[in-house]
Amino acid sequence: MPTMHVCTGRSCSERYSKYILARLLSDKEKFDKKDTIDIVECSCRWRCKEGPVFLFEKELFTKGNPVKASEVFLRKLAELAKSQVSASPNRQWK
Ligand code: FES
Repeated sequence: MPTMHVCTGRSCSERYSKYILARLLSDKEKFDKKDTIDIVECSCRWRCKEGPVFLFEKELFTKGNPVKASEVFLRKLAELAKSQVSASPNRQWK
């Protein structure tokens, strides 16, 4: 399952990364009914000066905030839904 990691290391936590985590978990509950993306916290990613940081798979986002993380989450969710539709064997062309 694709995963978003939110750094909750000391430096990122001091920059309120817990609010990013809370926002993503709330978005997941509201918008990810099919349980497509996992949201987990992670330890320091060694980019503390650019924190708070979060990742989607191996793509790193710096200077994070809840709104920015939410936009990434919703965009990735839409992209995954679109790719699943186009990969569906029952798709009919008109
Ligand atoms: S504490 Fe988040 S990158 Fe170091």
